[in-house]
Amino acid sequence: MGVPILTIDGPSGAGKGTVSRLIAQKLGWHYLDSGAIYRALAIAITERAIPLDDIDAIVNAAEDMDLVFECDAKRHITLDGHDISHLLGLESTGNTASKIAAIPEIRAELLHKQQHYKQLPGLVADGRDMGTVIFPEAQYKVFLTASALTRAKRRYKQLKEKGIDANLSKITADIQERDQRDSEREFSPLIPAKDAVYIDSSDLSIEHVVEEVLSLVR
Ligand code: C5P
Repeated sequence: MGVPILTIDGPSGAGKGTVSRLIAQKLGWHYLDSGAIYRALAIAITERAIPLDDIDAIVNAAEDMDLVFECDAKRHITLDGHDISHLLGLESTGNTASKIAAIPEIRAELLHKQQHYKQLPGLVADGRDMGTVIFPEAQYKVFLTASALTRAKRRYKQLKEKGIDANLSKITADIQERDQRDSEREFSPLIPAKDAVYIDSSDLSIEHVVEEVLSLVR
């Protein structure tokens, strides 16, 4: 029997991470947070002071990096033995991740690392190109989005809750810039798979989205 796969693609802040984690828990399936892989690579090259135009060095760093996702913990990750969880969610990490994600050699290097997560009893894969490039064979595909302002407000609230100073118009501008880079890049752009179910979560609760996605799988 093949491994059942549910892909959830969409822009940042659409609620993919929360929804994917909850569904993976409910189904007892594995969970792939592909954005965290790009983010971890962004941290690795920043720590090693590798410039963004040194593609060979970035590809080597991607090849070498030893990433461990702690089970159940929210984006709790170690890179080469040290905990990088606190760096993962930073805006600067996301921005660097989005820049290296536009480089085809890097996407190619990370392809197999991601496909490795396809294991029984099933996989929930969260990202930008899960349903189009990494797991085109997936039986269940969702494209989860929300308006840029809704996503910016969610991010703003998250930062405030963590006691981090935030500016809504700056966050909205950053989100729009990242959306544009992710959607317009030549390789694996952020687009819905032809066979994906499109869900706009702007006016939906997390519970509602989870139920809607689960109804596809059940
Ligand atoms: O989802 P998250 O915000 O953590 O992803 C960070 C960045 O990594 C995204 O802005 C995107 O550029 C890149 N990414 C990607 N393909 C994926 C997952 C993330 O290009 N499958």
